[in-house]
Amino acid sequence: MRVLVIGSGAREHALCVALQSDPAVTALACGPGNAGTAVIAQPFVLDVGDPVAVAALATEWLADLVVIGPEVPLVAGAADAVRDAGIACFGPSQQAAQLEGSKAFAKHVMTAAGVPTAGFWAVGGPAELETALDEAGAPYVVKDDGLAAGKGVLVTTDRAAALAHGRALLDAGHPVLIEEFLDGPEVSLFALSDGTTVVPLLPAQDHKRRDDGDEGPNTGGMGAYAPLPWAPEGLVEEVLATVLQPTVDEMARRGEPFSGLLYAGLALTSSGVRVVEFNARFGDPETEVVLPLLETPLAALLHAAATGTLAEQPPLRWRDGAAVTVVVAASGYPQRPRLGDPVTGADAEGVLHAGTVVGPDGLVHAAGGRVLAVTAVGADLADARQTAYERLAGIRLAGAHWRTDIALAAVEGRIILP
Ligand code: AMP
Ligand code: GLY
Repeated sequence: MRVLVIGSGAREHALCVALQSDPAVTALACGPGNAGTAVIAQPFVLDVGDPVAVAALATEWLADLVVIGPEVPLVAGAADAVRDAGIACFGPSQQAAQLEGSKAFAKHVMTAAGVPTAGFWAVGGPAELETALDEAGAPYVVKDDGLAAGKGVLVTTDRAAALAHGRALLDAGHPVLIEEFLDGPEVSLFALSDGTTVVPLLPAQDHKRRDDGDEGPNTGGMGAYAPLPWAPEGLVEEVLATVLQPTVDEMARRGEPFSGLLYAGLALTSSGVRVVEFNARFGDPETEVVLPLLETPLAALLHAAATGTLAEQPPLRWRDGAAVTVVVAASGYPQRPRLGDPVTGADAEGVLHAGTVVGPDGLVHAAGGRVLAVTAVGADLADARQTAYERLAGIRLAGAHWRTDIALAAVEGRIILP
């Protein structure tokens, strides 16, 4: 099988690593990829936001399967364009990707499907904003309704700050969503879907804030670990039954079947599991810890999801142990990342590239806010965590920053369910 991966982050590097180890994969390409993927997958210059270009590359390269990593091409309709070209594609249609592309759309689907989620107020103007904030009460959750790479959300007890964030979004022409605040630890659960059958993967946890102790601004994700030793028994089955399957069924009922990766961002609150958000693709950095634990070859699974045959696949096999990934971010991330600095040590074992290019000097340079995701698998979480940080010590990037507490609370048994 000739597999083309679309995207350029550590998620795509993790996908390429998993696909490369699958004997069914005879050729692997990644457009545009990064300095890390280029070592194992043929690179192609590509504007991922251009569905025509994505489909043209898939056709010219004679791909048997296209795997779309990021949300931007999905929301732009790249999966539709690839399928229209007669090529199997792992990733939802433009319509179905609205589960991620519009938080208001996702809320309507959840309401129709009876999926538990935070109460919300869709806000179109400044007067409604004030009313919604007062009805919701503190802590305030103010969200950009559209795609914002994890950076459009403000959670604050400061009403003036909440108002200012909401106003800034409205002034920029973005609809705003105010939400009920959800307490409790967060879980990312991914599921493969072919539009009908849903196969959950292992739960993982992302660390979204920039700084240790969950301080600082929200980011795209600063690290992750899997599995979750503190997760309640039966969590995956419960989320499959109450969230994932009803959502996939509701999308099918609407004539917008969801095939690809359904990512449920969940809060385990004192009143039960609630959906914080849906994404229509593999999460980043959670993919960097979930895929290394998957023993089942990936290509056949993704192909089955793309072609409506997931029900025929054998049950997934997972290896024992745990995985941890720590993101190395460029100076200034997430607000104003400084790009272009040389990176050394990035060819070591477990180092996934998130935002890198090979410069004219032949060296690896930072090309994104998140530069690397340093990953390790270990016998348990403590072991994986130790190895990941040992590997990180071999990286050199001027001004880089990373969290030192990825998976630490879980290792120390400090995650308490409400
Ligand atoms: P989102 O872009 O919807 O994934 O939100 C990013 C992050 O903001 C989430 O991972 C949470 O940490 C936080 N967040 C979002 N919605 C809520 C909510 N309703 N209550 C509490 N925290 C939230
Ligand atoms: N890890 C958060 C995301 O992929 O959206």
